Amino acid sequence: MASPHDPFADARASAQLAVAADTEGRAASAADHYERAALTISKVAQRMRAHGGVPAPGIETAGAQYADRARALRATLKPAKPAEQPGFLSWCYQSILGPPAPDAAAATPGPGAGAVAGGSAAPGGELETRVLEETVVMPPKEPPPPGSELAKIAGLGLAKRVLEEAVIEPFLNPGVYTGLRAPPRGVLLFGPPGTGKTLLARAVSREAKACFFSVSASALTSKWVGEGEKMVRALFSVARRYAPSVVFVDEVDSLLSKRSAGENDASRRIKTEFLVQMDGVTTGEGDRVLVMGATNRPDELDDAVIRRFQRRVLIPLPDAAGRKTMLASLVAGEVTALTKAEASQIVSMTKGYSGSDVRSLCEEAAQGPVREARASLRPGERLDASALPPLRMRHFVEALRVVRPSVPPESLAMYEDWARAYAVRS
Ligand SMILES: Nc1ncnc2c1ncn2[C@@H]1O[C@H](COP(=O)(O)OP(=O)(O)OP(=O)(O)O)[C@@H](O)[C@H]1O
Ligand SMILES: [Mg+2]
Repeated sequence: MASPHDPFADARASAQLAVAADTEGRAASAADHYERAALTISKVAQRMRAHGGVPAPGIETAGAQYADRARALRATLKPAKPAEQPGFLSWCYQSILGPPAPDAAAATPGPGAGAVAGGSAAPGGELETRVLEETVVMPPKEPPPPGSELAKIAGLGLAKRVLEEAVIEPFLNPGVYTGLRAPPRGVLLFGPPGTGKTLLARAVSREAKACFFSVSASALTSKWVGEGEKMVRALFSVARRYAPSVVFVDEVDSLLSKRSAGENDASRRIKTEFLVQMDGVTTGEGDRVLVMGATNRPDELDDAVIRRFQRRVLIPLPDAAGRKTMLASLVAGEVTALTKAEASQIVSMTKGYSGSDVRSLCEEAAQGPVREARASLRPGERLDASALPPLRMRHFVEALRVVRPSVPPESLAMYEDWARAYAVRS
């Protein structure tokens, strides 16, 4: 196992879980872990460079390979369905926008005209088509019952309350929230990695019935090299057209970190454009575009950015009640022989674990019965899913040795200090 001082320990642990899941044919879980490993490597390497360090040789190549493997696995999971794209545009027009506004109608094709799938004229041209293709998250076919999406997320009471009041209600009931009651246009979710920030942002957009644009900072700076600035402009212009929309910027610290003298020109231009667009969003009465950022490095954000995220909410490590709910829902689909007392014991043994650590722990524990069953197979005999032994306490004890908490306790003080200075209080 990696040494406790290895800055890439978290990434290596994710990679190990990914490879194990991949070998066992669990594609969805493997893709999740590969993505997590790739993302963590890129974030840690970036942070090391920012502080004059040099990442371990080969680690970034490994990160790129994990990202490739995750993409390949995802492609096997979700076959492309081009036919859904025009349907989605039509959904946007009809369910959110209603009939296109007269000026928009001149520039845009009608509902379901196949703007994206056909590659023909989309609102505002090629860049906007790419924005739609690459950042829009398909909404659920049936709108979820109110509260149901947030309810799937364990704990985080304060964050849910703030988001309900500041985002969901005003989106669903805009008439009430005008003038002094106008909702904030920027919300920042910050906290340790793997605590449900991305999960919350998605749940909020579904509950608010908003058009959801998800953009990762690394895509803006790497995938759209040289075009990042234009993409930012296009992103906001499309978001305004499809309002109410949520523009979700994951890992916002890597996009909007403190501006420094030594940074390259392209990244500074993207940053400036983003700030300008956020201002445009904040001053434009009426257009309901919310920028939601998530980060685990709030201290690296530019002051100008902090000001623009008017509500800042700490998403902490799950408390005992949160871990209990998570554990219960994760093992709900398994045959278990855990007693109530054992479940409480697992909850107390996972103090300091993030939500994603708890999930990894359960995934690792769930391998225990499989390993035992395989060990007792006779030569030539195949494993039978219905004959697996139940999940027991000893599988969790074993898994607790493999899956360690990924958030260093000393980093928690930084989040709390930052929260005291800038965040919403309970
Ligand atoms: N509160 C929670 N309730 C249920 N599941 C959770 C919760 N927090 C984390 N998880 C689990 O952890 C996984 C990772 O969560 P998510 O991607 O939202 O973390 P994050 O805070 O965005 O992390 P990062 O800062 O590294 O991006 C989720 O897919 C989910 O399985
Ligand atoms: Mg995230």
